[in-house]
Amino acid sequence: MAEVPIEDVAGRVLIDHALDALKNAYAPYSKFAVGAALLLEDGTIVPGTNFENASYGLSLCAETVALAAANVAGRLKDVVAIGIVGGAITPKGVEGDMPIYPCGRCRQILNEAADLGGRDIIVYCGSADGTLIRRHALSELLPYAFGPADLAHDTPS
Ligand code: THU
Repeated sequence: MAEVPIEDVAGRVLIDHALDALKNAYAPYSKFAVGAALLLEDGTIVPGTNFENASYGLSLCAETVALAAANVAGRLKDVVAIGIVGGAITPKGVEGDMPIYPCGRCRQILNEAADLGGRDIIVYCGSADGTLIRRHALSELLPYAFGPADLAHDTPS
């Protein structure tokens, strides 16, 4: 019987969910599809896709959409990990052989969830072809983060 580290299993599952979500990406302008999947502490998976619009700069990232959905469910503090995949939309499908990483804004929003939950969120970065998965801690991707504690007043409860 093979022993697989639990983190590797979680990463594979999250990347597979992110690949599913990516099929519904709305990215007609950049033609770059991104899928994300959050893992909550009770095992719930919350998907997200990028969501563009004609005013290009107002587009929403897949991670942000997933985090907002978790918040709507009152679960922002329960985020344990996230899987992210993305690639170019081509006539043959979504293509990409390199893991993609969350943008700076999404790292900041992930940091808010991490702070609420009192944990370091695990970030799995995957390639659109599903072959590569890299595992990082959010604190590694966003060191010296600005967070709720830096505000003069307490975080709203
Ligand atoms: N995008 C994401 O969804 N997440 C990221 O972390 C980086 C970029 C989206 C935004 C836009 O719809 C497309 O990828 C190209 O930038």
